Amino acid sequence: MDVEILKQITHNVFLVKYENREFLVTKSRFKPHYGERKFSDFREWIPYRSKLAAMILNGYTIDFRPEIKMLYLGAASGTTVSHLSDIVERGYIYAVEYSARPFKKFLELALERRNIIPLLKDASKPEEYAGIVEKVDFIYQDIAQKNQNEIFAKNAEFFLKNGGEGLIMVKARSIDSVAEPSGVFNRVLSELEENFSILKHGKLDPFHRDHIFVHVKF
Ligand SMILES: C[S@@+](CC[C@H](N)C(=O)[O-])C[C@H]1O[C@@H](n2cnc3c(N)ncnc32)[C@H](O)[C@@H]1O
Repeated sequence: MDVEILKQITHNVFLVKYENREFLVTKSRFKPHYGERKFSDFREWIPYRSKLAAMILNGYTIDFRPEIKMLYLGAASGTTVSHLSDIVERGYIYAVEYSARPFKKFLELALERRNIIPLLKDASKPEEYAGIVEKVDFIYQDIAQKNQNEIFAKNAEFFLKNGGEGLIMVKARSIDSVAEPSGVFNRVLSELEENFSILKHGKLDPFHRDHIFVHVKF
């Protein structure tokens, strides 16, 4: 059965129809990485597994140019990085993860793709990878840590170009396990406003409950 392209969302990101179902996909010449389906030249991008896919399906898109340089904090085993690597196909993604277990699987991905530079490092210590990472156009952060704003600001100070942008995924429970999520999100947003302009924020429901994305400019 053929894949029908319903809509192009941004470079190498499409909404397609296959076997009467709609899928968010990235155009990819690589094999599946995390159990997603591959049809024709496309890899399914599962919103329950990737907050970036959830954001896009909820109607907000960032137009990543294919040649940008990106710093990705919290790569885990590379689910979302694999799709960003399809998008940023002529640029680079410096991807930081501090846990050895997911990093092992992430390395398999990085070995087959030339645009991923894997770093087994602690994102709260950017000085430890400052000799490797260059100035970037974009920082993506998904680390689910209490002090994630501080970590983001520190990395932006080191690596983000003036006028560069970032996307932060915020899980209310990682910051405060008892407070109302809306109060936690307001606090996170006002902290971020001290250093960045907020371009957009929004929920990731129903795919990731009690999470928001925050798109910022430096
Ligand atoms: C929610 S998972 C990331 C999922 C991934 N971004 C994706 O969409 O495929 C959070 C990851 O951040 C990592 N992490 C948390 N704190 C970190 C830190 N200070 N430095 C590096 N990695 C960190 C965790 O080990 C975990 O793998």
